[in-house]
Amino acid sequence: MERIIITGGERLKGRVGISGSKNAALPIMAATLLTNGVTTLSNIPRLKDVTTMARVLRTLGAKVEFRERELKIDTTNVDRFLAPYNLVKTMRASFLVFGPLLAKLGRARVSLPGGCAIGSRPVDLHLRGFKELGAEVSMGGGYTQVKRDGLIGAEIYLDFPSVGATENLMMAATLAKGKTTIENAAKEPEIVDLANFLNKMGARIKGAGTDTIRTIGVKELKGTDYSIISDRIEAGTYIIASAITKGDIILEGAKIDHLESLVTKLHEAGVEIKDEEGAIKVKARRRIKAVDVKTMPYPGFPTDMQAQFMALMSITPGMSMITETVFENRFMHVSELLRMGADIKIEGSRAVIKGIRSLSGAPVMATDLRASAALILAGLVAEGKTEISRIYHLDRGYERIVEKLSNLGAKIERVTV
Ligand code: EPZ
Repeated sequence: MERIIITGGERLKGRVGISGSKNAALPIMAATLLTNGVTTLSNIPRLKDVTTMARVLRTLGAKVEFRERELKIDTTNVDRFLAPYNLVKTMRASFLVFGPLLAKLGRARVSLPGGCAIGSRPVDLHLRGFKELGAEVSMGGGYTQVKRDGLIGAEIYLDFPSVGATENLMMAATLAKGKTTIENAAKEPEIVDLANFLNKMGARIKGAGTDTIRTIGVKELKGTDYSIISDRIEAGTYIIASAITKGDIILEGAKIDHLESLVTKLHEAGVEIKDEEGAIKVKARRRIKAVDVKTMPYPGFPTDMQAQFMALMSITPGMSMITETVFENRFMHVSELLRMGADIKIEGSRAVIKGIRSLSGAPVMATDLRASAALILAGLVAEGKTEISRIYHLDRGYERIVEKLSNLGAKIERVTV
């Protein structure tokens, strides 16, 4: 069993390289199923979720080779359309093979992803969209099956700007006959990166990054080479690591325009964040003040930064309120922060935080990816030692986080107990 042990109190200083985006890599890897060819992806982060998606692609008949920061995917012989439960249950994003398989092979049988720590996470918007594109959808035994030889372009309206549904439907639409419009689409930078990748393969997509995405179906897509964007949530996590330790760090390879809402909120709280030719400089000199936050779909405050921001507010003097509007149960980190002495009260989708002078190190347990990042941030400033268990959650989305934080001066180590 591996644990992470942190001795709090060190101010972070120096430079940290931001890895490629997990949430861009996963849909783009799935999108390679839309072609019979070879694709080379670069700036791919070495993460557990990327390894899982590679296993899903291999299960479907693809050849996937990791070479350092590159991934070579050969989908020439993809002929299987079943994504099994044992893989889908470990990573919801496996569901993103649905749209490409349906478009390319005319059928797909994918295990329902099931819920996870942060919520039930249904896929009704995905399935409704596939039906609009002409697919026959059936359910049984925990699996969903869709089939249709030749999808037909359609007008699709998403009740909620779901990131995954937008990605699945945009991928399916690339090979559908005629035009497809997705209204109320998600606008995350990862959607834009996926659309850029699809267009480089020969797709005809316009409007990604706005709430209306228009696609004209084409006959086939070709393999290509592509470098994915940097991970804005990893960058946001290191920005908060600098703020919470009153540090002075430079993030290399991060794009500040993908983090506007977080940067605005941190400016309001008194954290100095500057864009210096492709690098982000973070300095928290003055006392930070408590600010309220409400998570929203992009470009609003990212739900994936909510837990990390709460760690910062838990030691910021004053009262702050964090409202989680995207997921129904994304406060799993609160009980662990309480163990470290935080003063937080949950009222439905709102958490009211009373900043305290300092947190105390304690044994705590990670419950989901971003909650585990929040516990690391809390451990960096807590008095004494914090020991975090179940760190497999962390390995899903943060590449070499112990090494990166240690290089910035944190007293952090990974031990096997
Ligand atoms: C993506 O998940 C991200 N994952 C999540 O990041 C992120 O938190 C989320 O978008 C929101 O930004 C990847 O990109 C791999 P959604 P996704 O569909 O696509 C409801 C991380 O930490 N919904 O936008 O699953 C759903 O229940 C992860 O990196 C439906 O009701 O998110 C949720 O409440 C965590 N029906 C809300 O929409 C549907 O058919 C947002 O879900 C689909 C979604």
